[in-house]
Amino acid sequence: LRVLRAFLGVTFAYAGVQKLADPGYLSSSEPTFIGTQLKEFSTGSPIAWLLHPLMQHAVAVGVAVAVIEIAIGIGTLAAIAPLTMAFGGGITSLALWLSATWHVHPYFLGSDSIYAVAWTAYALSLLEVRRSQLRAAPPGDAAPFRSGIDRRAFLRSGALVAGVMSLGGLASLLRGRPRTGDLAGNLAAAAPRSASPRPSVSAVDGKPIVALDKLRVGRPVAFTGPSGEPAALFRLSESEIVAYSRICTHAGCTVGYDRSSNLLVCPCHLARFDPDREAQAVSGPTSIPLPKIDVAIDDSTGMVVTPQS
Ligand code: FES
Repeated sequence: LRVLRAFLGVTFAYAGVQKLADPGYLSSSEPTFIGTQLKEFSTGSPIAWLLHPLMQHAVAVGVAVAVIEIAIGIGTLAAIAPLTMAFGGGITSLALWLSATWHVHPYFLGSDSIYAVAWTAYALSLLEVRRSQLRAAPPGDAAPFRSGIDRRAFLRSGALVAGVMSLGGLASLLRGRPRTGDLAGNLAAAAPRSASPRPSVSAVDGKPIVALDKLRVGRPVAFTGPSGEPAALFRLSESEIVAYSRICTHAGCTVGYDRSSNLLVCPCHLARFDPDREAQAVSGPTSIPLPKIDVAIDDSTGMVVTPQS
């Protein structure tokens, strides 16, 4: 029980602090914005009906989630209302399992399922300990029922609130300024110009994405891949262009582009992929690169195209 209590308490407090310390968490123009996460989580989630209305109040929801996590973490570590904390931790983990890691297959690669089970085991163990203590107590020795909040409970509640405010405030103070990244805006929509007649060098039969002379280094273009998946086209240098699927290889959220780091960033669990290095995962919960998409230049039109197979 002590091991579970320490691990779950520290982890939940850390998760809440990490959210509040993330400069992008409450900023709608950032890849890690809570609203973007909710949108991605809702796709195919069994609790999408709950997530959709929450998206309208993304910032408030984000703050509430972080504060609740910190409160549960501190409360668990300090053994304040342990059963209530265990119940709250279990509900929070269950909600995250049904949304954030619902798409992770096999399920044991997603972390929230084991947290939900761990909180349940912790709560059941607490109940069992309480029952044993009651059984062991001599008859008539049971603590008398007291109504209202006694002094000790009042002090503990105060300590919990103070702890949450201190830790949450500290995390907010340590938060840096939002990066200049703009998840959607940094990926310009593909706007193919009408093909200008040029001497035909080699015609490629394919679906046009964008004119080559409109594609700039550091200004990737979003387009729809051959299988209908969201994709991004990059010009790495004057002579090199590449395209990748934007479906995250962790659990299928759509990655965005962070201009300040020149990385593709997943809003769901923060996997980052480097377009300059074959879209390899440079951090986060996956080591699988984003799939590459074949593109070619149609010299007859000057367009970058996805070749028809
Ligand atoms: S879906 Fe989990 S990091 Fe992308």
